[in-house]
Amino acid sequence: MHLALILSLLAGATTAFSTNPLDQQDPAPSPPADEIQLASVVFAGSGCPAGSVSGNISPDPTKITLAYDYLTAQTGRNITAANSRKNCQLNIKLKHSAGWHFSVSKTSYRGHARIPAGTNGTARATYYFSGESGQATSTVIIPGPYDGEFLKTDEFSLGTIWSPCGNEGLLNINSEVRLTPTNSTQPAVLSVTSLEKVELSWQRCVRAAPSTATPSPTSAP
Ligand SMILES: *[C@@H]1O[C@H](CO)[C@@H](O)[C@H](O)[C@H]1NC(C)=O
Ligand SMILES: *[C@@H]1O[C@H](CO)[C@@H](O)[C@H](O)[C@H]1NC(C)=O
Ligand SMILES: *[C@@H]1O[C@H](CO)[C@@H](O)[C@H](O)[C@H]1NC(C)=O
Repeated sequence: MHLALILSLLAGATTAFSTNPLDQQDPAPSPPADEIQLASVVFAGSGCPAGSVSGNISPDPTKITLAYDYLTAQTGRNITAANSRKNCQLNIKLKHSAGWHFSVSKTSYRGHARIPAGTNGTARATYYFSGESGQATSTVIIPGPYDGEFLKTDEFSLGTIWSPCGNEGLLNINSEVRLTPTNSTQPAVLSVTSLEKVELSWQRCVRAAPSTATPSPTSAP
């Protein structure tokens, strides 16, 4: 389903570096901010009915933020097992100036849980690019008893996943919340409320796209 989403592109077009694009050691860390656009966000899944995800992008540095209204797993008396697991598959298309590609370098997600002893909560986010192999996964397991918020932050080594070289990339984010056992009569709830930060790193395309870990694009050779 297509998104009715507030795509606030905070086009702070200030670029710290003004460099010759032909310079091989161009230190510019990303395309100009005004040439990075969130072209579309599409989502589907049991944890994200129509209209339940909103997001924005800030280009400098490039960060995507997504808020979920219904990504909540529940167990308890009279709650069917289908509610013990919910997921949301997002496809985020970024358009950008040619000759670049991007990677997911840092993520954090936030939520809350009320889980009794004997029940475990699991929240997971998997990131991958359409047309490329490889994925990056972040998992948090919350054993009960637990009552409160949680924040999970991960840094992925650069090169784990890259968008294809070109002028756009389709980033897929599959988020899931799960409670086990699925048939507990004790009330339990686990919600992911936001992917608070999906931080992107950029790299100029040099010949072929690197398929394995590469040095940071900002490090001197
Ligand atoms: C569970 O369902 C039964 C029958 O539908 C009902 O009588 C009972 O009040 C419900 N219990 C809770 C906790 O909602
Ligand atoms: C909860 O997690 C612990 C540790 O991973 C595991 O030993 C246990 O079997 C899990 N319990 C349930 C109900 O999933
Ligand atoms: C939950 O399901 C398991 C496996 O089907 C079963 O052994 C157990 O008795 C069930 N528990 C409840 C509370 O229904």
